[in-house]
Amino acid sequence: MVLQDLREKTSAQHRQLESHPLLHQLTSGQLSTGVYNTILQKFYGFFSPLEELISQYSPEDYLEDYQERRKAQLLLQDLNKIDNDHFSQQLPDICDDLPNITNTDGAMGALYVMEGSTLGGQMISRHVEKTLGFTPSNGTAFFYGYGKDTGKRWKKFQQAMQQYTSRQLTHTQLITGAQHTFSKLNTWLSL
Ligand code: HEM
Repeated sequence: MVLQDLREKTSAQHRQLESHPLLHQLTSGQLSTGVYNTILQKFYGFFSPLEELISQYSPEDYLEDYQERRKAQLLLQDLNKIDNDHFSQQLPDICDDLPNITNTDGAMGALYVMEGSTLGGQMISRHVEKTLGFTPSNGTAFFYGYGKDTGKRWKKFQQAMQQYTSRQLTHTQLITGAQHTFSKLNTWLSL
């Protein structure tokens, strides 16, 4: 129920993100290393502080492998691999306009957005490999994510979410957390 709701109530925002001028290039034949680098920097600037924020609400109490799911380090790793010279100069800009998350419901909503990104990531990592030649151990670790375990890990996340919400009467704040996360990411990508 909550999963269906999350999907329905964020699907327009997901479509908007997919067609964002920057992200749209991730699946185009014209993808360049420069644009890919910019996308990784933008994602790091958003996901890194967002993971810190989510962590304040102990998601591992509901999703036991949460720590292993954190993704900011993978983005740093990819940036280092694809652009060593440039990247060693400075860390990416960090977003200071994060979604308004003030409780565990909000954090779980944001986590839905982050974990969902691994689904499209499968297709994206294959495309990046085909067009730019980067591989999971050399530049696509973030998008490759859980690789062949993606379906299994997504299922596990869904089960955890189901369990988390099973005794709740409403999940309004959880949905709002997911919606805020999508919209703040969209804004950040446009800056
Ligand atoms: C060019 C960029 C993107 C493409 C092509 C893409 C594509 C996809 C695809 C193919 C799915 C799987 C649908 C399914 O198997 O049912 C998916 C699901 C999802 N994606 Fe993306 N995606 C992109 C970017 C993102 C980003 C940046 C985020 C979040 C940061 C995101 C969040 C999600 C979520 C939350 C779902 C799960 C929807 C559900 O509840 O079933 N996506 N995406």
